[in-house]
Amino acid sequence: MAGMLEVKEWVLISYADEGLPTTDHLQLRERKLVVDDGSIPEGHVVVRLLWLSIDPYLRSRMTGRSDGLYVSQFELNEVIESFGIGRIIFSKADSYQIGDIVINPFSPVSDYCVIPVHGLRKIQADAEISHLDYLNALGVPGFSAWVGMCIIGDPKPGDNVFITAAAGGVGVFAGQLAKIKGCRVVGSTGTDEKVQLLKVEFKYDDAFNYKKEPDLDAALSKF
Ligand SMILES: NC(=O)c1ccc[n+]([C@@H]2O[C@H](COP(=O)([O-])OP(=O)(O)OC[C@H]3O[C@@H](n4cnc5c(N)ncnc54)[C@H](OP(=O)(O)O)[C@@H]3O)[C@@H](O)[C@H]2O)c1
Repeated sequence: MAGMLEVKEWVLISYADEGLPTTDHLQLRERKLVVDDGSIPEGHVVVRLLWLSIDPYLRSRMTGRSDGLYVSQFELNEVIESFGIGRIIFSKADSYQIGDIVINPFSPVSDYCVIPVHGLRKIQADAEISHLDYLNALGVPGFSAWVGMCIIGDPKPGDNVFITAAAGGVGVFAGQLAKIKGCRVVGSTGTDEKVQLLKVEFKYDDAFNYKKEPDLDAALSKF
């Protein structure tokens, strides 16, 4: 698809040390992108963004503090990036065709981008896995839960497992992984609705609202 595209992209213009980032920190920039054989480098593709994962670690990339985190700070005046899924609309790489759906762990937060193919992974069209599952269960939240539960924690059948922030993106997968391992799983969360969600939808053995428990040691000993 050669031609001229109107691109909208989110740029970090100043770091937000505390509180919610606002338009003082993030700005929507519009620009034109020429898509043709002459303007797209060899080994690159043009991707139309379809889905983007919004995860807590993104906030920590906007503080301007290098505090030993596993991910670096976003560069000022550059487009921010996140784990994304997109469709290829133009290709100058032999192994990637127009229409391929790709996962990009460092996808610019932009409706279109020009990207080298070495960081991309193709989604198998016949895998019968929804695109969104590649962002949650098979994406960063599911992977984080798997590393925590299966590699670091490695509980054994019959063990008691307690999960805080249990109804969050990582917590729901961590709890289910512990259940698969045959553990007894208890979670804490901040509302009664989420307590119900944990017990009914996510099959936790039990759950409680930590905001209603003045003594957390006593609450835990009940389970
Ligand atoms: N998402 C990822 O891919 C990923 C990857 C690596 C590491 N992590 C880390 O894993 C943790 C959870 O991430 P997530 O994606 O599951 O986040 P999330 O979906 O945003 O859920 C976080 C939950 O934490 C709970 N919470 C907030 N303040 C709390 C407090 N003071 N005490 C206890 N609970 C509190 C809130 O639920 P309640 O209503 O239950 O309080 C909130 O919904 C974060 O520290 C994150 O940085 C996440």
